[in-house]
Amino acid sequence: MNAPETTETGSSGDPGYDTVDVSVLVIGAGAAGARTAIELAERGINDVLVLGKRSHGDAHTTWARGGINGALGTHDPEDSWAVHAADTLNEGHFLNDPGKVETVTKQMPDRLRELDEWEMDFSRTEDGSIDQRFFGAQSFRRTAFAGDHTGESMLNALIDRAQELSVPYRENVMITSVLSDGDRAYGAVGFDMDTGDYLVFNAGTVVLATGGYAAVYNRHTSREDENNGDGPALAYNAGAELMDMEFVQFHPTGMAVNESDPEWEPWSGRLVTEAVRGEGGRLYNAEGERFMKRYSPDQMELDARDIVARAIAQEIAEGRGTENGGVYLDLSHKSESFIRERLPRMHERFDSLGVEMASEPVEVAPTAHYGMGGVAVDEYGETSVSSLFAIGETMAGVHGANRLGGNSLAETVAFGAVTGKRIAEQVDGPGRIPGQIVDDIAKPQMRDLTTLAGRDGTYGVMSVFTDLQDLMWEHAGILRDEDSLRAGLDELDALREKASDMDVGPITSDSFEFAIDIGFMLTAARAVLRGAIQRTESRGAHHRTDYPDIDSDWRRNIYFERADVGGMSTHTEAVGTPSEAVQDALDEGYELDYHQLE
Ligand code: FUM
Repeated sequence: MNAPETTETGSSGDPGYDTVDVSVLVIGAGAAGARTAIELAERGINDVLVLGKRSHGDAHTTWARGGINGALGTHDPEDSWAVHAADTLNEGHFLNDPGKVETVTKQMPDRLRELDEWEMDFSRTEDGSIDQRFFGAQSFRRTAFAGDHTGESMLNALIDRAQELSVPYRENVMITSVLSDGDRAYGAVGFDMDTGDYLVFNAGTVVLATGGYAAVYNRHTSREDENNGDGPALAYNAGAELMDMEFVQFHPTGMAVNESDPEWEPWSGRLVTEAVRGEGGRLYNAEGERFMKRYSPDQMELDARDIVARAIAQEIAEGRGTENGGVYLDLSHKSESFIRERLPRMHERFDSLGVEMASEPVEVAPTAHYGMGGVAVDEYGETSVSSLFAIGETMAGVHGANRLGGNSLAETVAFGAVTGKRIAEQVDGPGRIPGQIVDDIAKPQMRDLTTLAGRDGTYGVMSVFTDLQDLMWEHAGILRDEDSLRAGLDELDALREKASDMDVGPITSDSFEFAIDIGFMLTAARAVLRGAIQRTESRGAHHRTDYPDIDSDWRRNIYFERADVGGMSTHTEAVGTPSEAVQDALDEGYELDYHQLE
């Protein structure tokens, strides 16, 4: 790390802290953060610092598996950015911001070629082109991939590129608040997770690239310490607006396991990539019926994620599930060598658990995977707080009511490039945190952290953490209704009380980190529940059993912001219209034809 650092010794009861001066602070070291920093470095802005909560290279991006979308047309030359945009809007049930969708889909062919230049190890066709596979609800084979470890390969390529450009990086830092007066951001406060030292970052621009909030649910595809809503909560607490938080994607195929078996239990809910279905995987219920024929005879297992997830949930709820609470996903009509080549990590994982995918099915059930909502941003990724940006899963707008598989990795690099360029055009040195912000926000925040560390309260941190996740699964899951959502809000209030009376370890302990996460999760969970109550319709991943139909009057985004007197206020705004090129592609009515795969 080469950012200048000074030390303030504490006075009159205030803890001491180190100050780090930097022009651009990027919080989050996954693909979105890395790609933003690369863009800045390529444009000559080197006074940047990328912060990661974990060791270098260990970010949630590495868990992204099946692929990254871009209309390269390797197999299907009819594909184009406009059809990609049309598929994205269709899947998002037209709640997406059409401008942001264009930004991503227009850029992706170049972003993929650039990753290729940076030596990402894409799977290739016989003639050496970047291979592309089918993914759910996409009209053409558009999902580029590296086996089934696409995120890992992509992050490796981005990190190598960032290192070539000498992008400064600091690991094991947790940020607890963004310093802002509500109109402008000035930096951030956090601590070194190894030493417990407090850190005040004085930054002219702050970028939140911290992932999403799907881990507020008890069954999810993230690790426990990521996607806890930190980005949305940091932005909201700094005065920025959130948007579309009620839209949480339940991936149809998380691992369904025997939870009393210690070997299997840690895998509960973990992702079984959509690529298994993209490569021909079939879903069967416990009665041996290929049930997707009843729900979606044309698109079968590759229909939109919300449709497949609800179909699986219904099979299980109606008693046609397996003993472990799932259904079967079967690829045994493919050879072992095919599976090892196209899905190496899946094969390896199930093999290590004693299951050979080439001869038997695996068990799967829906699992919380992705927050389509997040921080409301403009076309460059800037929030309503000037000089505070949010990108990747932290931002909202690209995916609408339901995300197309393969579009999350796409969004990280597309918006990383856009946001990096925008910041490079504006950057104006480290700035100077007004003394009042240090006194009124940074110092009280560090005092609060000191009080929290070692608090000898009544409730265990992990019990509050898991109670919150259970609450969200029960009250704001795949199927929702007003009574249950309101009961969820009441329970959340009770949990907030418990969270202020927890038994917390020292600042370098896991329990301290999770106690901070609980604060973020409470904010994200409240927004999900509030939005889900307000949205009296069913659209994409938000399914209200008391309002089972889509309502055209609800083609509006819900925005969430802090009210002056505390609490959360909301308002809605109508969504924009697609450009002529995208409307033409929509009018053509492209859609995936599953049966050509058979
Ligand atoms: O199933 C998957 O591999 C997930 C991909 C995605 O969410 O984009």
